[in-house]
Amino acid sequence: MRDKQGDTQQMNIIVVGAGYVGLTTACCLANSKHRVTCVETNKAKLKLLEQGLSPIRENGINRLLKQGLASDGLSFAPSLPKPLQVDIAMITVGTPSLPNGAAALSYVYYAAQELRNATEQDLILAIKSTVPPGTGARLIKRYFENTPITYVSNPEFLREGQAIWDWYHPSRIVIGAEDKQTADKIRQLYFDIDAPVVLTDITSAETIKYASNAFLVTKISFINEIANLCEAVDANIDGVTKGIGLDPRIGPDFLHAGLGYGGSCFPKDARALDSSALNKGYDFRLLKATIEANTRQRIMAIHKLKQALGDLAGKEIALLGLAFKPDTDDIREAPFLDIIHLLYEEGVKLRIYDPKAMENARPLLPTDITFAPDLHSATTGANAVVLVTEWQEFIQADWQSIKEQMQEPYVILDGRNALAQNKLIGLGFRYIGIGRRVQT
Ligand code: UGA
Repeated sequence: MRDKQGDTQQMNIIVVGAGYVGLTTACCLANSKHRVTCVETNKAKLKLLEQGLSPIRENGINRLLKQGLASDGLSFAPSLPKPLQVDIAMITVGTPSLPNGAAALSYVYYAAQELRNATEQDLILAIKSTVPPGTGARLIKRYFENTPITYVSNPEFLREGQAIWDWYHPSRIVIGAEDKQTADKIRQLYFDIDAPVVLTDITSAETIKYASNAFLVTKISFINEIANLCEAVDANIDGVTKGIGLDPRIGPDFLHAGLGYGGSCFPKDARALDSSALNKGYDFRLLKATIEANTRQRIMAIHKLKQALGDLAGKEIALLGLAFKPDTDDIREAPFLDIIHLLYEEGVKLRIYDPKAMENARPLLPTDITFAPDLHSATTGANAVVLVTEWQEFIQADWQSIKEQMQEPYVILDGRNALAQNKLIGLGFRYIGIGRRVQT
């Protein structure tokens, strides 16, 4: 069903949590003329937000934030107003990983409890936080039975860095609700967005979110495995990817071989689904294999470097790219974290550089790793360069002048298959990609 609502009813909304999802949600809903209050308990963040400054990097967020504050449609608060007089409350707090891989739900439980305590009149509670299937049913039983709160699952599919664009151009709106009237009210939130609507029950909506991320990580690990196979059989991943991606049943997206996925969502959600399935008595073996393949992908990069450089102890290596993907300073579960520690253990002399994520990485790394101020300082004198994040700055770099400042054997491990292989080989680099046929 493709469903564009004509009804532009303005609603009063409270959004609990001003992280990537919460702040995007609050700003976009205010931009659509709803009246939104966003609760943020962290005092430093709250202060920034009240001044119209975003604590997160997200394209376009500062503009929406300032507009929202100026129009009075958006405000921030340190806690829930009591009594709470809104049409819809949204929980957007984080669900990080517990040490055993399960999703930590303490922020969700706390927000749910607070909302129950503050609510005296009918309201819909829509949860956007990523919570394992069955969580909504438990929350209803624990907190919301015989209260004026009607619970809905309304997962998000926003990509970091493109979240605002994704908000206005979603591939679908998923609403898990117990009755149609409640679902219709949630649909009205998005009155100005043209997208197919999937109406389902709460647990199925929760499952859609995890299944989407599980499918995407499986696709990434699958293409990484095919890239490894290409190396074994002397095929070329670039042609193979094109050849399979043209089949509409497969599609070209998320078939980019590399050092594996990172970020604040994919790794944690894959582990949480695996853990939650096991808890319910189901061993999700395909997902386990996907997670394992992602870890192995980082380790294989070290083997490739050893093949090219011999003993790594004392070798000078420049590692380029710390952010988990380009155009963000987010380093959560970024591939470099695994790679750098493996190289460090081998006794490599490391210099690292990233256009935006250096300060976030500093507290996590040994102090004898050199943080280079720019690309050339990182690569000068290096025996090898390892490209971990495909920033445009690296793709468009003057590799000839970089090579002139490097030392033999001029290895470049292109961990994202992002660089012009033939050009680099022409310049005298020893190019190693991920599943790209070695040119001689
Ligand atoms: C991801 C999903 O794409 C969103 O739909 C989802 O809403 C979000 O997680 C979430 O659960 O909140 P995001 O974490 O911003 O969004 O990152 P992506 O742009 O999807 O990339 C994730 C990782 O996969 C990156 O490390 C990227 O380098 C890697 N990747 C992606 C590959 O290695 N190969 C590919 O072909 C695509």
